[in-house]
Amino acid sequence: MTYLLHIDSSSLLTGSVSREVGATFQTAWQKEHPDDTVVYRDLAADPLPHLTPAAITGRFTSPADRTEGQAAAIALQDTLIEEFLGAGAYLFTVPMYNHSIPSGFKAWIDQVFVNGRTLFPAPDQVPTRGRRAVVVTSRGGGYGPGTPREGMDHVIPYLRSVMAGSLGLNLDIITPELTMAHRNPAMAPLRPQAEASRARAHEEAEQFARLA
Ligand SMILES: Cc1cc2nc3c(=O)[nH]c(=O)nc-3n(C[C@H](O)[C@H](O)[C@H](O)COP(=O)(O)O)c2cc1C
Repeated sequence: MTYLLHIDSSSLLTGSVSREVGATFQTAWQKEHPDDTVVYRDLAADPLPHLTPAAITGRFTSPADRTEGQAAAIALQDTLIEEFLGAGAYLFTVPMYNHSIPSGFKAWIDQVFVNGRTLFPAPDQVPTRGRRAVVVTSRGGGYGPGTPREGMDHVIPYLRSVMAGSLGLNLDIITPELTMAHRNPAMAPLRPQAEASRARAHEEAEQFARLA
């Protein structure tokens, strides 16, 4: 028995493409893993604090010497780290905000990525090494090869660096693009492409759930 850790981060609680594609993945994953469970965290509905001085200095202070503030900050981190390390697989939905990831998701990363707990110098020391993770990263525009915005996506390279590079996760990335085409009249000609991208994202979510 294991669990899928499913983390949503879109600030939109309804009408969010990344949440919808993530839900498709979760439903399909549960069908494939009827004995397993899902642990769910919503970083928009229940935001985490950004890293505080107490959290940083608390890590360098022995437990007996920590202030109340340091102890509380470390306790929160430890809860998030245990939740993360206990999972057998991961689903992260991470829309593009200003070419990068939502600040709520960055706050989660900063709380969980801790030397000696989740980060280690040698790849074979990393406890999450080789676990599967699916990332759904929706974006209003298109960033593929040959588009005017090629090279301006700082979501996928960053997540590859931290999730695959630092944590050793085996990543599959789903990218529903052009999601703003339905709201932005200037993007109306791109609506068929947006539809196709969204449909493909749901198909990939089903496929990756069978592998995860
Ligand atoms: C604060 C904010 C910043 C955004 N920045 C970008 C951006 O830099 N590039 C882009 O293509 N779309 C951008 N968008 C559009 C979102 O990426 C798009 O609406 C996406 O579908 C959001 O994911 P969601 O549907 O899961 O909420 C932004 C949206 C918001 C709310």
